[in-house]
Amino acid sequence: MSERKIKDFNKTRRKILKGMLGIAGVGALGSMIVPFGTIKSVSGKKVRQKITKGDKLVYAVGPNAGKEIKASNLSIGKGTLAFPKGKEEHNNLILLFRAKENEFGKPTKINFTNKGFCAYSAICTHMGCTVEWYPEKQFSFDFPHIFCPCHQSVFDVFHGAKVLAGPAPRPLPQLPLMISDGVIAAAGDFDGPIGPQPGGK
Ligand code: FES
Repeated sequence: MSERKIKDFNKTRRKILKGMLGIAGVGALGSMIVPFGTIKSVSGKKVRQKITKGDKLVYAVGPNAGKEIKASNLSIGKGTLAFPKGKEEHNNLILLFRAKENEFGKPTKINFTNKGFCAYSAICTHMGCTVEWYPEKQFSFDFPHIFCPCHQSVFDVFHGAKVLAGPAPRPLPQLPLMISDGVIAAAGDFDGPIGPQPGGK
């Protein structure tokens, strides 16, 4: 991502925020995005159940919500929100996508990916909103990226979900993946703390 593109994006972002404040509030931006919907914790527990090796992933939204995600169901360029089966809690929300294997670079943990599948926490590190998958051009970003609709943070899907723009203070934690009986599963827990942390870090 060139500095020029990031500058362009920040300019666009400022204009949007101005418009939101002056005219119609959150709805002004809401109409520009493809929302995944509001994700609620199924269990209602306050303490997150840790994700462990072998936990199969299920769709978190849409007509297939609750169904296991088969590797054959997700083609290159596609992404979805997912939960570890049986641990459907907000802080366990996962953004899963598939890319070409050679598209990933550091700091993505390549050994956490599997056949082009890669997963990050879907909870923004800024204030905890649910992030979204953008496979195509948006603003000046003409490549797949993760976007937070609350304050427009942008994360680099191919490089460890590092922050490209916006107020998010750190990357989204990555989840190690494996494929079990043709179903995408976790190979362990996230590699870092989920969502905003004390002190804004
Ligand atoms: S909560 Fe995501 S950018 Fe603020």
